[in-house]
Amino acid sequence: MFNKNNDRRKINDDRRNPDIERRSSDIIIPENKLISEIEILREEFIKTTEKLIRDVKRQDKIMVRSDKRQQKEYDQLQLQLKQVEFLNKEIEETQREIIFTMGAIGESRSKETGNHVRRVAEYSKLLALFYGLDPSTAELLKQASPMHDIGKIAIPDSILNKPGRLTAEERVIMDTHAGLGYEMLRHSTRPLLKIAATVANEHHEKWDGSGYPNGLSGENIHIYGRITAIADVFDALGCDRVYKKAWDDEKIFKLFREERAKHFDPNLIDIFFENLDDFLEIREKLKDIVN
Ligand SMILES: [Fe+2]
Ligand SMILES: [Fe+2]
Repeated sequence: MFNKNNDRRKINDDRRNPDIERRSSDIIIPENKLISEIEILREEFIKTTEKLIRDVKRQDKIMVRSDKRQQKEYDQLQLQLKQVEFLNKEIEETQREIIFTMGAIGESRSKETGNHVRRVAEYSKLLALFYGLDPSTAELLKQASPMHDIGKIAIPDSILNKPGRLTAEERVIMDTHAGLGYEMLRHSTRPLLKIAATVANEHHEKWDGSGYPNGLSGENIHIYGRITAIADVFDALGCDRVYKKAWDDEKIFKLFREERAKHFDPNLIDIFFENLDDFLEIREKLKDIVN
């Protein structure tokens, strides 16, 4: 319970102290002042809230605009990416066609058909796959192998298309086509042309070391050279050339067996015979059309 006397005394004491007096007057706020204070606060609150809503809406608009701009930039990038991909494909295709055409030019100078390089390309890829090279390397070898005789473009017609046996001197000149092809291609840093350079240089090397231009033997001959050697000889023997008639299959297979581990990589010869039907199928599909 309150003690009235004590309370009164306290108020009297407080009035004597000016500080306490001021504080008491602050604490005692009249009701109307309080209402107006609340009213002011409420207005402040409404104003602040309205401003906040306006800001959020403005921010939303900015974000929508920014989203639209970002979407536009993204679409443009996608379009540019598609164009780059298209151009890249174009370059690859062009490169493939140029290499094939150059190979065909080399062969056509020696009166061989375009289908010879096509078949050599397919045989090479098949041998590479059966040998165990990965599919992308086998595909590169397929694209590069038509260039194996590109060096022949530098050999005089009188030698290249001589009907009959070459003299010893002519043979020396003819055999330079491997090194010449390599010289034409070796400066490129492109993987496809680097393979083509190896193929040009090593497709006349022989397993027993009796080939040219460098007399390499065994696995010192690059696998690309060993593969293309088989593909090229298999096809060349089966075609008419200015210096010989086409051989029949039995004669070709007999030579292949005899040249196993002499001219050719024995492992590749085994692979060739194990999968003979696949090679004959390619030959049939790409056979020369005789007019
Ligand atoms: Fe050759
Ligand atoms: Fe050839």
